[in-house]
Amino acid sequence: MGHNFVKMALLAALALPVTPVWAHEPGSYESPIVEQRVKRFKQSGGDIQAIFKQHIGKKNFVAIEQAALRMAAWGRQMPDAFPEGSNSVGADPAIWENFSDFKAKSEAFANAAMRLKAVAGSRKIDPIKAAAQAVGASCKSCHESYRIKH
Ligand code: HEC
Repeated sequence: MGHNFVKMALLAALALPVTPVWAHEPGSYESPIVEQRVKRFKQSGGDIQAIFKQHIGKKNFVAIEQAALRMAAWGRQMPDAFPEGSNSVGADPAIWENFSDFKAKSEAFANAAMRLKAVAGSRKIDPIKAAAQAVGASCKSCHESYRIKH
């Protein structure tokens, strides 16, 4: 009985969520650079959602342009936010095995965002929707290879 209890406790411990207890301590597995990039990804998530759920319906083209520029800037800086050794629960180690491909996907995202910015200037809804969908597809294409959902 006692033995079984220990075994169960061990199994339960193994099944705990993967966030390490030492997260957020300096020089640890999770670090300020990880926190910063997660913040920017969340901002992109908010931007792309706002484009589809608010800005397009309200024909708020200026807001679309601003969101697109913010995403493009992030796409250009993204490779620098993934220095060697900045592993995290969300980043697939394949990033550092195929870094040139990861860079190409960041660039594809930045280019799609710049194209959205240009198309937003046309004030035409259908092309704007298509360009915003292309941005979304560029997020997905990178996530399929390099993001670990956790
Ligand atoms: C070139 C690759 C790449 C592109 C492009 C990309 N992402 Fe990500 N994304 C990642 C990686 C890698 C992570 C995991 C980062 C980590 O946890 O360290 C991530 C994480 C996220 C997260 C989770 C943040 C959290 O809460 O942990 C969100 C949300 C997200 N991305 C949204 C987006 C959106 C929206 C776009 C496009 C507008 C996008 N991403 C484009 C690679 C990418």
